[in-house]
Amino acid sequence: MSLISSSVIPLFVKTLMGLEEVLAEELKQLGADDVYIGRRGVACVADQETFYKVLIHSRMAIRVLVRLAEHNVSNEKELYDWVKTLAWEDYLSVKNTLAVDVVSFHPEMNHTVFLAQKTKDAIVDRFRELYEVRPSVSPKDPDVRINLHISRDGASHIALDASGRSMNQRGYRQQAGKAAINEVLAAGLISLSLWDPETPFVDPMCGSGTFVIEAAMIAKKRAPALLNDTFGIKRWPHFRETLWQRLIREAEREERRDVNWIYGSDQDPKMIMIARENIKKARLSRNITLFNKPFDKVWIPEDKGVIITNPPYGEHIGERRELRKMYEELGRVLKYKAVGYKAYFITPDREFKKTMPLKPGKVFNVLNGSIPCEYISYTIGPKK
Ligand SMILES: C[S@@+](CC[C@H](N)C(=O)[O-])C[C@H]1O[C@@H](n2cnc3c(N)ncnc32)[C@H](O)[C@@H]1O
Repeated sequence: MSLISSSVIPLFVKTLMGLEEVLAEELKQLGADDVYIGRRGVACVADQETFYKVLIHSRMAIRVLVRLAEHNVSNEKELYDWVKTLAWEDYLSVKNTLAVDVVSFHPEMNHTVFLAQKTKDAIVDRFRELYEVRPSVSPKDPDVRINLHISRDGASHIALDASGRSMNQRGYRQQAGKAAINEVLAAGLISLSLWDPETPFVDPMCGSGTFVIEAAMIAKKRAPALLNDTFGIKRWPHFRETLWQRLIREAEREERRDVNWIYGSDQDPKMIMIARENIKKARLSRNITLFNKPFDKVWIPEDKGVIITNPPYGEHIGERRELRKMYEELGRVLKYKAVGYKAYFITPDREFKKTMPLKPGKVFNVLNGSIPCEYISYTIGPKK
């Protein structure tokens, strides 16, 4: 029996820096076992149903890989020989197309195009020797995407990419603002906050709406696969359509309809138009209320909710100085209008904490794209 039909499928679920722990928690909730936190990812094992559920429900996964084998290699010849020993005929047929993605931290084996070529050669040569025919390569749109990861010391992991695409592509982003945040990062930051999804959520500088959309999906218990159900695994020979469809129907039944406590606002009418389009595409128009207002005019429900936002960050020093005055004003407004709330800001500006007239709580280090950022929490206490 092949590994992907077994009841203990070894997975490596990739995520963004800083989200490993919340991803591990999510995987446990979905039923994964032997959960082990790694660098920018989490290793675990899952049965068939849990494996499919991870693809359907995970908000913090960027890619879901099925770990096939690991081995130490010190040159391309050893890589080729090892890859050729693996039973590829268990995972794809000669009719399938394939592609190989490579990440290498090895000081000498660092030519990723060549490494991908060698890996692909080993796979197709095995097929040719067994059946006298070979599968074809389709770098852009393969049936089976294979992932090779080589560490600095030559420890190599080969895996099948069950997601087949980056899972932050939720399918709602028609247009992004220039500074739109990654959807997985937004979901992860909401997870790191102490938001109770039954209470108000406000993004007073919502841009294209990523935070409010992810928050509404969480409050509604909407599985991301209900918006975008393109996954690599669906083109694998062993894909179990009936099981997948049952889990999709269960996910549809789980979704709540009554959520109406998510609010977004932006002073730029163009951004509000983009946010409205994205929200419509995400089928969340009834769940999110948008305002086209500067943050000091935003209505914040009197309750104990959460505010999460990524304020603008200037590219030039002068611009940044101006923006710091704005952060100060933002702090004053929140102190007055958002008593009882927790507020969270993601910013690359190391001066942000000093500028905010509020006492910072926990600070998380995260990456927004390639930019190191702080995700800073505040508790907004009663007026003195
Ligand atoms: C970094 S972007 C937010 C991006 C957003 N998280 C997304 O995923 O698209 C910052 C946003 O703050 C808005 N903004 C700047 N000053 C503002 C103010 N005083 N009041 C409200 N919004 C403001 C900008 O129009 C911009 O859309």
